[in-house]
Amino acid sequence: MSGYNLQVKTAGFNYRVLIEENGLSRVGKSLRLLFPSTRTLLISDRTVYNLYGEVVLQSLVEQGWQVEVLSIEPGEQSKTLDQAARLYDAAVEAGLDRNSPVIALGGGVPGDLAGFVAATYLRGVPLVMLPTSLLAQVDSSVGGKVAVNHPRGKNLIGAIYPPGIVIIDPLVLKSLPGDQFQAGLAEVLKYGIVVDSSFFYWLEKHIIELLKAEPSALAGAISGSVKAKAAVVEQDEYENNYRRVLNFGHTIGHALEAATNYNYYLHGEAVLIGMFAAVDMAETLAVLNDKQGGRIRNLLDQILLKKPPAGLTAEAVIDKLRQDKKRREDDLIFVLPKEIGEAAIMPVNDRVLIKEVIENYLNKH
Ligand SMILES: NC(=O)c1ccc[n+]([C@@H]2O[C@H](COP(=O)([O-])OP(=O)(O)OC[C@H]3O[C@@H](n4cnc5c(N)ncnc54)[C@H](O)[C@@H]3O)[C@@H](O)[C@H]2O)c1
Ligand SMILES: [Zn+2]
Repeated sequence: MSGYNLQVKTAGFNYRVLIEENGLSRVGKSLRLLFPSTRTLLISDRTVYNLYGEVVLQSLVEQGWQVEVLSIEPGEQSKTLDQAARLYDAAVEAGLDRNSPVIALGGGVPGDLAGFVAATYLRGVPLVMLPTSLLAQVDSSVGGKVAVNHPRGKNLIGAIYPPGIVIIDPLVLKSLPGDQFQAGLAEVLKYGIVVDSSFFYWLEKHIIELLKAEPSALAGAISGSVKAKAAVVEQDEYENNYRRVLNFGHTIGHALEAATNYNYYLHGEAVLIGMFAAVDMAETLAVLNDKQGGRIRNLLDQILLKKPPAGLTAEAVIDKLRQDKKRREDDLIFVLPKEIGEAAIMPVNDRVLIKEVIENYLNKH
């Protein structure tokens, strides 16, 4: 088994990302070396806790940690201030002090919620990320964005609060439902397309093994993704400019999620469609040549494209695009690939073109 020991360094923070099979059974020891405390609060969702809670708990207890456990209902509806308030109560009950880590075991929902609590409780306690969905392993656990939702919008209340350590066990992906896995893969491909061309070529070579969830291919894909994300975050942690490159596929992706009330597409499924649309746009605007565009499409084609729901129109998606919080005044901002591994962040105001690329997707089915 080959593991990876990566490092993320930003102005104020420096943390490790360990990618290793059965890494969850060694959590207690890793934390013992890092944090001078004996208490911790472990936050998970019920599904993930039933699967992996015991292994993590045992490794912590063996190393002398006193652990308070709190499981939330799985799903986006748990990412609220109400749930955060429950967790603050648990943190007080558990007697956490400034050196006591809050541990997030699960996908992006427990990660973002526990991260938000870690960022704010006692003005910040150490945060440990044990991501178990592919999306969380390659995206949400690294980079420091933590948040809860507001009834008026997703992730409206949050902070940039990097973790103290991230421990990723690729073997836990065995139990991840297939659609969640494919949705996570969309974000993996994103890094190859707009951040790192050598990772793109690696993905072309290993996509079949990846689709079969072969452990060494998975570890390679997770490590390539984390390295790419780290490289972006190290340059622009606060998303002043370059970090927005990671929104490739997300402009139309978010609009599709919103137009379907967040209950039809998984996030990565919508991002996959958004990436196709951005490639179409980039070619039409001559930002990207057809040869490279074709190569990107071939890779994206390996992931299942979700059909649109009956009745979805391009107009409905465009309405939501206009409400996108990342738009500047009247300009809609898109991330368009320029060549493999590089993208332009640019306004596109050609409504006809935007409509056309959305219709390209709607008419495919
Ligand atoms: N902070 C960031 O930078 C960032 C980036 C991207 C997304 N996000 C956030 O992440 C969230 C989405 O993340 P997600 O897709 O991981 O959601 P999630 O945490 O809801 O997990 C998805 C589902 O998979 C289940 N699951 C997770 N790991 C499993 C495993 N190993 N085996 C079986 N089931 C498992 C969960 O119980 C859940 O039902 C959103 O709230 C989004 O806003 C944050
Ligand atoms: Zn995303």
